[in-house]
Amino acid sequence: MALRAAVFDLDGVLALPSVVGALRRTEAELALPRGFLNEASQTGGPDGSSARLMRGEITFSQWVPLMEEGCRKCAEVSGICLPENFSISQIFGRAAAARKINHPMLQAALALRKKGYTTCILTNNWLDDSSQRGSLAQLVCQLSPHFNFVIESCRISMAKPDPQIYKFVLDTLKASPSEVVFLDDIGANLKPARDLGMATILVRDTDPALTELQKVTGVQLLQTAAALPVPCNPSDMSHVYVPIKPGVRLHCVELGSGPAVCLCHGFPESWFSWRYQIPALAQAGFRVLALDMKGYGESSSPPEIEEYSMEVLCQEMVTFLDKLGIPQAVFIGHDWGGMLVWNMALFYPERVRAVASLNTPFVPANPNVSTMEKIKANPVFDYQLYFQEPGVAEAELEQNLSRTFKSFFRASDGKPFLNVGRVRERGGLLVKTPEEPSLSSIVTEEDIQFYVQQFQKSGFRGPLNWYRNVETNWRWGCKGVGRKILIPALMVTAEKDKVLVPEMSKHMEDWIPYLKRGHIKDCGHWTQMEKPTELNQILIEWLETDARDPPVVSKL
Ligand SMILES: *[C@@H]1O[C@H](CO)[C@@H](O)[C@H](O)[C@H]1NC(C)=O
Ligand SMILES: *[C@@H]1O[C@H](CO)[C@@H](O)[C@H](O)[C@H]1NC(C)=O
Ligand SMILES: *[C@@H]1O[C@H](CO)[C@@H](O)[C@H](O)[C@H]1NC(C)=O
Repeated sequence: MALRAAVFDLDGVLALPSVVGALRRTEAELALPRGFLNEASQTGGPDGSSARLMRGEITFSQWVPLMEEGCRKCAEVSGICLPENFSISQIFGRAAAARKINHPMLQAALALRKKGYTTCILTNNWLDDSSQRGSLAQLVCQLSPHFNFVIESCRISMAKPDPQIYKFVLDTLKASPSEVVFLDDIGANLKPARDLGMATILVRDTDPALTELQKVTGVQLLQTAAALPVPCNPSDMSHVYVPIKPGVRLHCVELGSGPAVCLCHGFPESWFSWRYQIPALAQAGFRVLALDMKGYGESSSPPEIEEYSMEVLCQEMVTFLDKLGIPQAVFIGHDWGGMLVWNMALFYPERVRAVASLNTPFVPANPNVSTMEKIKANPVFDYQLYFQEPGVAEAELEQNLSRTFKSFFRASDGKPFLNVGRVRERGGLLVKTPEEPSLSSIVTEEDIQFYVQQFQKSGFRGPLNWYRNVETNWRWGCKGVGRKILIPALMVTAEKDKVLVPEMSKHMEDWIPYLKRGHIKDCGHWTQMEKPTELNQILIEWLETDARDPPVVSKL
């Protein structure tokens, strides 16, 4: 029978470095015989304190004195002297707290799940009531959403290598042994599984284990190890709906805990455009709120143009924070979202912990030259003039949503085929572009279908209205003339964005003297999906330094 389920141990497989390995290092440090701690923990066999800990019969704090007692006895028997300050709680606590997700292994589990495998974590775990218990909670919390099942020994009163637990696994997976592959770093835990007929892989190092897993499953796993960050799956997300005023609500997807980070997408997109960033920022220790901006997806989409002026949109973002009880948030925006976050920094600096924009530069309003004049003077902005007449671009872009998104979301190295110049002359944005555009490397067919489904609700009117307040926005912007942005700020430029070219950002330091910068090579307009690895690294590094507790103060 073909394999169709994969079971992964936690310690030493999905989480590294393993506690077992850490104990060996501790033994060396304390000049204890190799295997001393492991042996001490095995005393009493299935009735011993460690076995009871794993079965959840006692908690970690109850186990510590029993284990210490065991160690003293073992030491006495072998005539060893334990250090004066010997502390089991510290030794195990530190080892468990040091563990981090083994990302290549997680990627392999994800790849298998994508191929239709049922995936499961099977771990000998304990009820952790120690002061370091947060680290175990964090590991399990970050891993469990990616697996079909998580089986922890302490919840079911059985632990590896008791043969019963493998039967329990098979029942849970509804699989026969020959359909299951099981990975563990402890040989003794693999044996009963192998005796039942499961394929087993002893994990010493990740790469050889993945090679073996790839061989038995026939699924390409080693290449995916270096692949993209894990995107989020819409059906797994928590959705929040925030009432703003009668007839208007804002929707966002929420993940993680820590300082709040609001992600503001651009035109014509969705909260989903941040799919590669949401899990990564949450894992870095932030509470991510990825919005459907007004007019989009599950947020309201009133038809009136005035509803989409920057002033109204910013006021509503403040209401959004108020209703959630968030005094300050980090704002990260892209495209129109970038325009919005710069305005938040300018008009509501007290609500903005830090501000970052992708592609969209900060350009202060010029009271002498209206924005409309500037748009008219730059041929690359011709599409914005095409967007002005209500109904025209709506009709074109709504005609075939699949074609629209496949035409928009393209990599910078692909054939450039959305031409933003001379749009009015050509009679439309998609004129003379393919009826059936190929799928760009930066999206999957399912991604496109998600955007299609999101735009079926309220179409392009709300989104296009963001472009239709040029005069109003300019007047409002003029109120901020002369102000500097002194809160922590980051500008990320994308080398190959044809509209929001990096060059446009060159005078930003005049207005944002402490501006930090990131630059992404070979990246076009759709930064979040074209270069997620590079972008996540830039954002996380910046968030760590500029958006952590304690709240950062203006550098006056
Ligand atoms: C115990 O003492 C040694 C030497 O004084 C020190 O290096 C070690 O960190 C201490 N261990 C604990 C658990 O406090
Ligand atoms: C606007 O014009 C005035 C008067 O000519 C000039 O002093 C000022 O610098 C101009 N402002 C900008 C932003 O160009
Ligand atoms: C819409 O566009 C897609 C290309 O993405 C094409 O396959 C499909 O046939 C088009 N549908 C209609 C009704 O034209």
